[in-house]
Amino acid sequence: MRKTLILNGSPHGKKGNTEIFIRKFLEGAKEPCPVRYVVQEDPAELAGDFANYDVILFFMPLYVHAMPGIVMEVIEQMQPAQRAGQSIGFVVQSGFLEAAQSDYLKAYFAMLAKRLGYVDLGCAVRGGAAGVCMQPEKASEALFAVLRKLGEGYRETGAFDGEAVSALGTPYRLTQKESRLLERLHRLKIGDLMWTFMLLRNKAFRLRRARPYTEE
Ligand SMILES: Cc1cc2nc3c(=O)[nH]c(=O)nc-3n(C[C@H](O)[C@H](O)[C@H](O)COP(=O)(O)O)c2cc1C
Repeated sequence: MRKTLILNGSPHGKKGNTEIFIRKFLEGAKEPCPVRYVVQEDPAELAGDFANYDVILFFMPLYVHAMPGIVMEVIEQMQPAQRAGQSIGFVVQSGFLEAAQSDYLKAYFAMLAKRLGYVDLGCAVRGGAAGVCMQPEKASEALFAVLRKLGEGYRETGAFDGEAVSALGTPYRLTQKESRLLERLHRLKIGDLMWTFMLLRNKAFRLRRARPYTEE
């Protein structure tokens, strides 16, 4: 049986959206896969353990159009694939709606897999996921169904299901009409309510205009 290692690359560990993506994927995959939390690990040790697995699946959030720094530290320690057929795959979820936000990272991962000699399972991308862990389960049911399908496809074929990847990656870009609508909503400050709530919850509302790196 194929041995798969799943990595959670979020600095939020078990409390973030990445964790929810992993759990829904595993519900579909129905495979006992160990999940390791990059935020709790030594990068060199973790990367060294990749040799014991047939497949490495990285799940992570997009941070500033890139991977979180803690994931980069692991990737910098990776050695070339240890045997023929060793595979690697990526699932990236992000806050902004457009999946296109993750294009640079996706290109980087394709190059990484090639340079290290891994079979590339590809990179599934999902935008608009920042609120998943704050919303009731029901609000994300359509997303969860696709993540389960991604897991099911992986169980059956050892690859990412093309339909699931394409459904996750929609919208790739917003149309002009959708962008204009969002701009109007932004002017009404509706979107700001969520951020205000988060600032209050984190006792940071008073600091919302802080500019710690500017000289005054
Ligand atoms: C420091 C930081 C940078 C981020 N940069 C981006 C970004 O460039 N594009 C984007 O769409 N979302 C961005 N996000 C949103 C996260 O990708 C999103 O909230 C994600 O669901 C967080 O997952 P997690 O809870 O597993 O950490 C950023 C979030 C943080 C905290």
